[in-house]
Amino acid sequence: MTNQDRRSALVSLAGVALAGSALALGGCKDRDEDKEQGGEVTCNEDLMREHGVLRRVLIVYREVAPKLAANPAAIDAAALANAAKLFQAFGEHYHEQLLEEAHIFPIVRNAGGEAARLVDTLLAQHARGREITAYIIDRTKAGRVATADAAPMAKVLTAFSRMYEPHTAREDTIIFPAFKKAVGPKGYDELGDQFEDIERKEFGGDGFDMAVAKVADIERTLGMADLAAFTAPPPPVGRAGK
Ligand SMILES: [Fe+2]
Ligand SMILES: [Fe+2]
Repeated sequence: MTNQDRRSALVSLAGVALAGSALALGGCKDRDEDKEQGGEVTCNEDLMREHGVLRRVLIVYREVAPKLAANPAAIDAAALANAAKLFQAFGEHYHEQLLEEAHIFPIVRNAGGEAARLVDTLLAQHARGREITAYIIDRTKAGRVATADAAPMAKVLTAFSRMYEPHTAREDTIIFPAFKKAVGPKGYDELGDQFEDIERKEFGGDGFDMAVAKVADIERTLGMADLAAFTAPPPPVGRAGK
């Protein structure tokens, strides 16, 4: 089976696999095959596109929050629960605990400098994120959001998004470059292989495509699949101050 065939098969199995907690997740995946084909996904590129999946969940949260506050019955609680479970499996367990906390943060902390000074805050934000995700999963498990929970949950969803937007942006622009610099080209490549081993041991395959398919399904269910709907309206016409 080719790499492409395997990825397609994994995507087609996404619905089944994601029904359970065993979400197959992508690290620095299929590196040898990709290297041979000239399409290697490097560690930082992979970490950053994992952030892309997580940001799509944040957008779901931000869009859902005011609707939830206005009319909780109008929100598909199962889709919201699926978004939180995806963030938990793909973001909190794999991306944060198995990669960032186990490997990247210790290296960055040892290297010192601006990036090292961010690590404690990033860890505190991971911990707060896990609390919030557990809360969302708990308060959606009945298949609906209770009226009494709607306003507090709307605030929590907004606060979660507000926290993770700068969190992932700092990691993309400060932490991951510092990690790459600290380990050097050889270490970067070796750690990429280690990350791939972690991924295979933990999940048995490439989960990035599966996670993208899952978040796209959540977006469709919640009516947020059309990218064009996010295009900003034109600015007001007329001269300044008139
Ligand atoms: Fe993080
Ligand atoms: Fe991250």
